[in-house]
Amino acid sequence: MDKIVVVTGAGRGLGYCIAKKHLSLGDVVYGLEFQITGELKELQSENPRLRIFQCDLGDDASVKNAVRDLLSSEKKADIVYSVAGIFAYHDDKGLAATDSETCMQYYNVNTLGTLRLGRELWPLIGKGTVVVIVSSEAGSIGAARRKAEYAYCMSKAAVNMLGKLLSNELWEKGARVLLFHPGWLRTQMGGERAKRSAASIEPGESADNIVNIVLDVDKRPGDQLYMTHQGELLSW
Ligand SMILES: NC(=O)c1ccc[n+]([C@@H]2O[C@H](COP(=O)([O-])OP(=O)(O)OC[C@H]3O[C@@H](n4cnc5c(N)ncnc54)[C@H](OP(=O)(O)O)[C@@H]3O)[C@@H](O)[C@H]2O)c1
Repeated sequence: MDKIVVVTGAGRGLGYCIAKKHLSLGDVVYGLEFQITGELKELQSENPRLRIFQCDLGDDASVKNAVRDLLSSEKKADIVYSVAGIFAYHDDKGLAATDSETCMQYYNVNTLGTLRLGRELWPLIGKGTVVVIVSSEAGSIGAARRKAEYAYCMSKAAVNMLGKLLSNELWEKGARVLLFHPGWLRTQMGGERAKRSAASIEPGESADNIVNIVLDVDKRPGDQLYMTHQGELLSW
């Protein structure tokens, strides 16, 4: 209760569910969103503790601008969730069909978006802060079985490295980093395939699991960083 929580991708999908869960716990939520959805505005009308800011994570100036109010209002962030990301099934291509421009877009949002967020929020990250990066099993090199999706998988492997470096750097400050595979989600990103599959899950279920692990982070050894939403460790 009364935690200061920052969530990217707060307008829909997993980010929306994480924001809603923290509001239900009585926390103050700063929701960053690319295109502010009607659903997010409705959530705000029911929850004055939700503050919404427009933000393109793919752009340095936009991220700087989005967190200006947060930096002037708060002294510390308790939890920072980097949830926003991009993936489209039509980019599920082998090497010969993979273009550099697409790879740059994925890297810019999925990897550098998290870097920009952390950099701009640096003054608020201190003892007890938990930085949560929603990655994917697709970012695991050790468990990689795909023969395609270069742009997405590479961007998630890179954000895993960002998380590990950040964890090393923050250790002495007493702040933690966790990286999650949220499951195959019935969201816009998961698409019709996820909505029809019994192997997928609702984003609300994944959000509940992730939030519960984050709130209990002190029970986890510091070298346990990369895991599923159910807390099972993943190979880097
Ligand atoms: N869905 C899955 O099955 C799955 C599996 C593994 C990992 N993940 C990861 O889980 C996270 C959440 O996925 P999801 O299924 O909730 O996705 P989603 O429903 O497609 O939502 C993606 C969110 O990211 C935001 N976003 C995209 N580009 C942005 C940008 N440039 N700046 C700021 N925000 C931006 C979107 O904002 P707009 O609404 O304004 O576009 C939206 O809020 C992602 O990091 C994803 O890679 C998902």
